[in-house]
Amino acid sequence: MATAVFPGSFDPVTLGHMDLIKRASGMFDKLIIGVLINSSKSPLCTDIERIRMLQELTQNMPGIEVMSFDGLLADFVSQTGADAVIRGIRNSADFEYELPLAQANYKLNCKADTLFLAALPEHSYISSSAVKELLRYNGDIRGFVPDTVYRFIAQKFNLTR
Ligand code: PNS
Repeated sequence: MATAVFPGSFDPVTLGHMDLIKRASGMFDKLIIGVLINSSKSPLCTDIERIRMLQELTQNMPGIEVMSFDGLLADFVSQTGADAVIRGIRNSADFEYELPLAQANYKLNCKADTLFLAALPEHSYISSSAVKELLRYNGDIRGFVPDTVYRFIAQKFNLTR
């Protein structure tokens, strides 16, 4: 059974993440979404909130499991017995950043071989960091995150729009 890990901070989950999850899950028998815990000192969403959000968003998608991990991705891949790691690439800056990480992960564990998926052009400007920046200045995040995530954030932070 071919299994892949899609790791990330998911703080918060974006439309770009959801597209990659859908596409990657169609390529593998099982897709493990690996949520890095304690990824930021001042997170928008807690570890539990991020995990619950992903569970809700993927509840009707067969073959997807949401797990948390702390520490090295290469070790997490080894613990899960996965065959590959999926990362999305939006632009050349992403590639520059991701390539050495992929090479290091492969060096640590050759089962942690990374497959890059090209983000859809309409998602190329979407990131969790952009969502956090918009929220800081009361910007509208609705075109950036799934509805479920918008509703959760709107309630948590009393958004005025
Ligand atoms: O969504 P993000 O923040 O871009 O995800 C980054 C993530 C979680 C994939 C990356 O930070 C990671 O793998 N962290 C775990 C620690 C690790 O293995 N670092 C690489 C050492 S070579």
